[in-house]
Order: sequence, then structure tokens, then C-alpha cells
Amino acid sequence: MYARLRPWLFHLDPERAHAATLRVLQLVGSLPPLTAVVRKIYATTIASPVELFGMKFSNRIGLAAGYDKDGLAWRGLACLGFGHIEVGTITPLPQPGNPRPRVFRLVGDQALINRLGFPSRGAAFLERRLRGRRPQGLVLGVNLGINKETPIETAVDDYKILMQTFSKLADYLTINVSSPNTPGLRHLQQAGMLSDLLGELNRSKTVPLLVKLSPDLTDTQLDEALDVLLQHGVDGVIATNTTTSRPPLVSYAAKETGGLSGTPLTTLSRRFVERIFAHTQGKMPIIAAGGILSRQDADAAIQAGASLVQVFTGLVYRGPGLVKELLTST
Ligand code: FNR
Repeated sequence: MYARLRPWLFHLDPERAHAATLRVLQLVGSLPPLTAVVRKIYATTIASPVELFGMKFSNRIGLAAGYDKDGLAWRGLACLGFGHIEVGTITPLPQPGNPRPRVFRLVGDQALINRLGFPSRGAAFLERRLRGRRPQGLVLGVNLGINKETPIETAVDDYKILMQTFSKLADYLTINVSSPNTPGLRHLQQAGMLSDLLGELNRSKTVPLLVKLSPDLTDTQLDEALDVLLQHGVDGVIATNTTTSRPPLVSYAAKETGGLSGTPLTTLSRRFVERIFAHTQGKMPIIAAGGILSRQDADAAIQAGASLVQVFTGLVYRGPGLVKELLTST
């Protein structure tokens, strides 16, 4: 079915197509008869639960942050079979993000480039969207970011406000220090700054805390960041966010600035998972994200040491049947 829908969706500007998809999924999640039908089509009977962070994930596949930033459609998205969904990145205050166009399809590369810059309806909006009914068996994460106007020196205050707001509603929280589209944000991955940040955040921690890393860290930077995460008892790491690097690409839009995701990221992200597993001697749970578009990609990420995987770009290119496809062998 998605094969027929995709050309129509790809005819639209990527952001408009995404907004239309979210509206449909929002409807799916809010009308119980529709919820039941969609769940029946996409839910899998394969039971492959995973225990992690003291929680039970019904399967290994999750939705990566950025797809449902404002929690508009997470109940509908849950019908596609995800074991966990990470909403956000959310910022404390509403903000528009960067000027459009800011999302580009690289169809020949099975990739996207985005420079959204955290468009966000703000914490109060997301808080309302998350209250109430929770789809059965779904683990819910919230990915936290900072407002554009927040100086990097006071970033900790933004994260603290968000932790306070979402600890009651989320099963886990992710500190996003790796988006390439908020100036200065990625400096927070530098060992000294990361240590200060986590030391402060640990004081108000009541749910598992994860950190999402950039694939553009050098080997030394990654090792130093991992040592800090281990010292501070961070519960897990998400590897990786999008890359500003440009491996060989065939699409015209490759010249756009922003974070690259999808197939060109697969090898880079998997290498990160391997390095993290080796450096932490398997002590740090890893959620793999980056270029997981097929069963083989998901299996390879698990083989490399990940406990769970997340998808984003794969959903755009493969459609809503992706979760089921990934689960038939992971
Ligand atoms: C993202 N990603 C992202 N990550 C994050 O932590 N917060 C965010 O707000 C966003 N926003 C966002 C928007 C768009 C349009 C894309 C394509 C990606 C990154 C995403 O969660 C994931 O880490 C990467 O995209 C790599 O996975 P895929 O897309 O290759 O499966």
C-alpha cells in the first residue's frame, strides 16, 4: 500500500508530507475503532521482549526523536508496532526553528538532510499531549533540548526544567547534546562540560537518563565522553544523531547544510555502536539509531552491541510496515 502512497507523499514538500502523515496518525490514535484496525494490520505476533533500564520493552524497535516532536501522534504511531517511542526534541519555550525549506529528501541515497533547529511548541504543550491514556505495553521516552536563545553556559537550566516537567510522564529521558542545528549544542559533549552538566542533572534524576551522541565525534572525543557517562552512572547511550559529514552522495540536495540521516549513515553509526560497546566493555546499554532501513541493518546493530534500535528515515522510505519487517528476524 505504501508503494502507491509514497509517490504522492514525495510530491509534497518533505515537511508538509510529514505534517500530513502526523495528522493521519493522530486521527488513528484518537478514534478507537481506527486504532484497533491499524493495530491489527501492523502489530506483530512475534514476542521478543527486552528488559532494559529496569523496564520491559515489548520488542527492540523504537521510533527515534524528531519524528513526533510535539507528541501529536504518538498514540497512533504506537499502532505501528513500536516497543518504544521517543517524542521531542522538546524545548522549554515554544520556538519556530530555522527558516524553511529545512528538510530535504535525497531519494537516490535513501537519505534526508534536515536543519530544523528544534521547532517546538514548548514543554507545556507536550506535557498536555502526554497526559492520559498510554497504549498498552509502550515505553515512552522524551528527548530534551534547549532553546535557541539559551546561552550554552546556562543550558543546564533548560534541561533541569524539562526533567522536572517530564519525569512524571516519561519512562526515560534523553539529553540531546548532539543536534547539529542548534549552534553550540554539540560543545556540551566535550568531557568537561558534559561532566558538569550530568553532575548537576543527576541531582534531580528520578527516571533513567540517556545521552544521545553525535557520529561526528573523533575517537578520542567519544572515548572521553563515554568515560564521563560511566562516571556519572548514565543509564544508556543513543548512537547516533545525524551527521554533518558528507560521504559520497548522488542526490542534488547533498549540497544542503544540516544533519544527514538514512543509508549513508548506516556504517558510521554502526562503527560508533561497536566502539561504544568495546570501550565500555558492554557496561553501557546502547540504543542504535542511524541508517536502519532493513532487517539486516537492525540485526547488524544488535550484533555490534546495541540492545535496542530506533528508526526515523527508514519510516519515510519504507513506510509503516517497517517495524514488522524489522521484527521478523531481530
Ligand atoms: C532528526 N533527528 C533528531 N534527533 C533528536 O535527538 N532530536 C530531534 O529533534 C531530531 N529531529 C530530527 C528531524 C529529522 C527530519 C530527522 C531526519 C532526524 C535524528 C534522528 O532521531 C536519528 O538519530 C537520525 O535521523 C538517524 O536515524 P535514521 O534517520 O538514519 O534512522
